[in-house]
Amino acid sequence: MLDLAELYQEVILDHNKSPRNFGPMTPPPTHQAEGYNPLCGDRFTVYVRLNDDVIEEIRFEGHGCAISKASASMMTEALQGMGREQAEAMFAEIHDMLTGKRKLDALDTDKLDKLVVLSGVCEFPVRVKCATLAWHAVHSAINTQGPVTTE
Ligand code: FES
Repeated sequence: MLDLAELYQEVILDHNKSPRNFGPMTPPPTHQAEGYNPLCGDRFTVYVRLNDDVIEEIRFEGHGCAISKASASMMTEALQGMGREQAEAMFAEIHDMLTGKRKLDALDTDKLDKLVVLSGVCEFPVRVKCATLAWHAVHSAINTQGPVTTE
């Protein structure tokens, strides 16, 4: 059986090579926000179409490193169909997991499902901003706060 580190490599490579829900949204989104990391210049725009406070569709586009792209791709899969409050709760859990604020045993790993593999970035503190970039953008998008940067 693959351990978490092997799974991390495999999942990041897969989502980086074939990002899910990548590209513009038609019909246009109801909400969108840009995430920007000024240290490396990586930039993503996250598009969300909310219908009755439910994420009917979520997509992203832009450019970034393998981890930022894979995390954005996995995020779109995870948040599709979720209510705004559920999505916000997941943002908080992912943020705590990626920043090491809460360890895996303090998180609802069933709910996080495949996203648990992203916990591997805790081993590489400089990559935490990569993995959180799109999550900050979606948090901003559904709260209509405009662009966000990692700095
Ligand atoms: Fe820029 Fe990862 S190196 S977001």
